[in-house]
Amino acid sequence: MLRRIELLETHGNDMELRVALDAAGLPTDDVNDEGRTFFKAVSDDGRAVGYCGIERCAGDILLRSVVVLPAYRGHGLGRMIVDGTLRGLDGNGDVYLVTTTAAPFFSTIGFSVVARANVPAAVLATRQLSSICPSSATVMKLNRSLT
Ligand SMILES: CC(C)(COP(=O)(O)OP(=O)(O)OC[C@H]1O[C@@H](n2cnc3c(N)ncnc32)[C@H](O)[C@@H]1OP(=O)(O)O)[C@@H](O)C(=O)NCCC(=O)NCCS
Repeated sequence: MLRRIELLETHGNDMELRVALDAAGLPTDDVNDEGRTFFKAVSDDGRAVGYCGIERCAGDILLRSVVVLPAYRGHGLGRMIVDGTLRGLDGNGDVYLVTTTAAPFFSTIGFSVVARANVPAAVLATRQLSSICPSSATVMKLNRSLT
């Protein structure tokens, strides 16, 4: 299986990104809005194996659109994509995400469930948290100063 991936910046109108998100049931409505950066994870031989994105929220970050293409799941690529994205972040703000299905996966990477009452206003105001994801979705946080 793949041992190395490269994260290449892409953008919200990348059709392959949108197809991958759609197929995984992840939102695409807001991918072209300002303030988002997306990455395509590419294997040594140039194949796209997954994607992820970040949104800047004042000093903090919303991690979003994390997807591994179905054929490549279960081999550590999801973790490699998230780890690589986190390594590339500047600043020391905390990283938040919202998920309806993948909380156990993100727990293995060090994220913990956080109550919405403890989430900064700029993160709550993202379209993902304020309207796209259901209010029952799980919000998680990674405290980067502890990693
Ligand atoms: C969630 C997802 C990104 C995981 O990618 P992956 O490449 O299969 O995950 P990995 O192989 O890197 O798994 C890393 C760890 O998480 C665990 N894990 C992965 N998916 C899991 C799940 N659904 N439930 C519990 N644990 C899970 C793995 O067992 C592994 O644990 P280990 O390190 O202790 O062995 C992938 O399943 C996916 O694209 N799902 C659809 C989209 C989605 O839900 N995205 C998240 C919302 S933003």
